Amino acid sequence: MRIDIISVVPDLLTSPFSHSILKRAKDKNLLSVNLIDLRDFGIGGYKQVDDYAFGGGAGMVLMPEPLVHCIESLKSKVQYDEIIYLSPEGITLNQKLANQLSLKENLLLICGHYKGIDQRVRDQFITMEISIGDYVLSGGELAAAVLVDSIGRLIPGVLNDETSALTDSFQDNLLAPPVYTRPADFRGLLVPDILLSGHEAKIEEWRYEQSLLRTKEKRPDLLKDLDAL
Ligand code: ADE
Repeated sequence: MRIDIISVVPDLLTSPFSHSILKRAKDKNLLSVNLIDLRDFGIGGYKQVDDYAFGGGAGMVLMPEPLVHCIESLKSKVQYDEIIYLSPEGITLNQKLANQLSLKENLLLICGHYKGIDQRVRDQFITMEISIGDYVLSGGELAAAVLVDSIGRLIPGVLNDETSALTDSFQDNLLAPPVYTRPADFRGLLVPDILLSGHEAKIEEWRYEQSLLRTKEKRPDLLKDLDAL
């Protein structure tokens, strides 16, 4: 999968993709993340990319010319499945959406900054708007990092043990069961016997029950969604 990201502060995005699972995905050539600095398409000697909002009001808006120039130059080389604008007004990211996007070949992510991007670019080029929650960030970069992380780990072959993504919280609309590691006795706090029993089927049953209990307790809304399926 190829994910291109347009940003005015691409440096914000170098670290999240250079470690852990996303680094592994890149090393295995299963994912390539390309950061594009919008300023390279800026206007004039100052490489201007933003301007005041028509009608007044505080905050700058990313201008259409540099952004469209940048999008068109990328589109001339890559056929994108989706061109995504990260915005608090978008549909809220969840595991189902991450699953769907992990099956795509090429994604283009656009990070707004300041007051966002000119509405005409949204109308003409954006195929999907995604929010990572009902709060406002200074720009789309951190949201893009969250989105890429949630997608990248689901690309087949990225996780060593393919089943480990399947047992994540939300993967089947349930929260994950509790997990324990050594020592079996930590300051008198014991690991449940069943996990030491070696009885795979019983362990699976226990985990499912624990998932249900946890979900009922912490996120009963997820079980309602389950009924509706
Ligand atoms: N940009 C600013 N706030 C955002 C949010 N909550 N989700 C996605 N992009 C954003």
